Amino acid sequence: MLGAYPAVRMRRNRKSHWSRRLVAENVLTTADLIWPIFLMDSAEARTPVAHMPGVDRLNIAEAQRAAEEAAKLGIPAVAPFPYVDRALRDPRGSEAERANNLMCRAVRAIKEAVPEIGVITDVALDPYTSHGHDGVLDDRGVILNDETVGILCRQALALAHAGVDCVAPSDMMDGRIGAIRTALDAAGHDEVQILSYAAKYASGFYGPFRDAIGTNATLIGDKRTYQMDPANSDEALREVGLDIAEGADMVMVKPGMPYLDIVRRVKDAFGVPTYAYQVSGEYAMLKAAALNGWLDGDRVMMEALLAFKRAGADGILTYFAPEAARALAGK
Ligand code: PBG
Repeated sequence: MLGAYPAVRMRRNRKSHWSRRLVAENVLTTADLIWPIFLMDSAEARTPVAHMPGVDRLNIAEAQRAAEEAAKLGIPAVAPFPYVDRALRDPRGSEAERANNLMCRAVRAIKEAVPEIGVITDVALDPYTSHGHDGVLDDRGVILNDETVGILCRQALALAHAGVDCVAPSDMMDGRIGAIRTALDAAGHDEVQILSYAAKYASGFYGPFRDAIGTNATLIGDKRTYQMDPANSDEALREVGLDIAEGADMVMVKPGMPYLDIVRRVKDAFGVPTYAYQVSGEYAMLKAAALNGWLDGDRVMMEALLAFKRAGADGILTYFAPEAARALAGK
């Protein structure tokens, strides 16, 4: 009988490198990578981030050099995140709205040094609030959705005036995509893209990131009243659907590897540009195992990144971006 063993032998197509290359269904390229970098306001060029070996906070001049390196490697975009001095944080995250804050200065500096690189910035208040939340609180500690959205719009406008290419609201407030789109358009920034953190889960995998931007020390409670419950999947489709309806150009699922089922569902349901964030804790796990000699670091890095493509992602935010780009270039 044809169509079954022994006429069919699945191993035949795997017998040699040329054949495996030919039948490969998915491919990872440098064009799939977005590189998140950490910024600080400092005379020092870089300081290491605890628990993320190989990742440093960069001052603005060093961030310009990182952007140059990214461009040379063919990485399409960088995504800077700020470590904001404690003295500048307050309950309302006021610093987020200021035209000359660290992020706005960095955006200008990076676009000046490397005009062709994409710059994608978070819109959320957590680096700027004294309590570490992505929104403002009332006196009982409840996050105030609509008041927060007003501040996020002004934060997005400050970034747009500074020349950002794409804003990425990561706060998970309701209605913020539509509000930010309207605010940007009214100010003549209709070309600024929105990459929505549409399905963002309340995750333990953000720990090292919160060290990097200094919010672990300050965060009161957790983010479960606005970020999604890891138990849910249908809810992710509702979140993504709303953000697309409100004007998101691209959507994101976050974290990455434990949520590949969500990436696949989102891509299948909407067919829009869909990104996954391989977050700080995922990077830390792979790096720690590699540095201990427990896993082959290069191999698992490339395997994990390819898995995002297989799940349907159009690209990946990853701290491995320069390392992976070098590996892809055979350097
Ligand atoms: C802030 C934000 C977080 C991350 C990206 N933007 C942390 C959080 O929501 O607490 C996490 C990224 C990572 O862990 O690499 N809104």
